[in-house]
Amino acid sequence: MTESPQKMIMVSVDLFTEGVPLSADVYTRLPSGQYLLVGKKGEKSNFRTLHMTAQKKAELYVRGSDYDAVIQFNLALTKTAVMKPEISTHLKVNLISGLADSAINDLVDRKVVMGSYDRVKQLSGFIKDTVSQVKDIDKLLDLLGKLPKDSAAHGMATAAVSLLICEQMEITSKTTLEKVTLGALLHDIGLKEIPAAILDKPRAERTVEESTFYESHTLRGVELLQELKEIPSDVLAIILEHHENAIGMGYPRRIRDIKMNPLARIVGVANYFMELLHDGVGDMKSPEEALHYMEVTLGLPFNKQVFQALKDVVQAQQIKKPG
Ligand SMILES: [Fe+2]
Repeated sequence: MTESPQKMIMVSVDLFTEGVPLSADVYTRLPSGQYLLVGKKGEKSNFRTLHMTAQKKAELYVRGSDYDAVIQFNLALTKTAVMKPEISTHLKVNLISGLADSAINDLVDRKVVMGSYDRVKQLSGFIKDTVSQVKDIDKLLDLLGKLPKDSAAHGMATAAVSLLICEQMEITSKTTLEKVTLGALLHDIGLKEIPAAILDKPRAERTVEESTFYESHTLRGVELLQELKEIPSDVLAIILEHHENAIGMGYPRRIRDIKMNPLARIVGVANYFMELLHDGVGDMKSPEEALHYMEVTLGLPFNKQVFQALKDVVQAQQIKKPG
């Protein structure tokens, strides 16, 4: 059965879990450009068909109008699953990987990342491998599961953008890239201790006390992660300093660029950029608008080299036009 529906969005096979009813109709794209229905909404996931399709590197798609529901369903499932001791670590990591894929596909959709199957898999594969290697993985998954609603997806997207910046800056050390990934993924882990009443309030409406409480998520994050074995000090520095900026107007310590951890400078820029793309600061902006806002409206209170790398990444994708 084929049809040529409205806008279709590429999704990862890891978004669908065996035996769990599909949260939307799932399609693959034929060489002719038509879409073939491979799984119907409400049916239990036919894992074999979906995985065979994905193994052949065929891309899976859902309708644009179903995309948010699919992501929300996966997020809810992931959150429930990571809390359950009877579910294997392998499956939990796969669910996390589905989240990484969908966050990166969203970046493809926004024209921040070039949209080839291999590119998405390369980025999400690196994130997945980095998470899998963490010593206290169950504790880490437990923390990820307790994050407020969009923070896990935001962490994934921030990790992907941070990796793209590193690539542009020719940072190739695997250990460094792993630290950046982990720091970016977990940078907002302290938000799990901030009450929803504060999180849900627009920033401009928060009282001074509420803002101070919110800003404490940086320190709280470091405290939470100190419970895990062998978390590198650079990762803790990323979490502590991801809201500092080059002109010493950030928090919690108002340190300037020169004193900031070099990896925190990268994640700080990626984090701010992703917040602008998802209405964390004012209206939701396009990548070009977000760059303009950071450079012109704010007057570039970020590390110049890191910002230039981000700009080069975005502009390169705008020219290449994903297809
Ligand atoms: Fe934050």
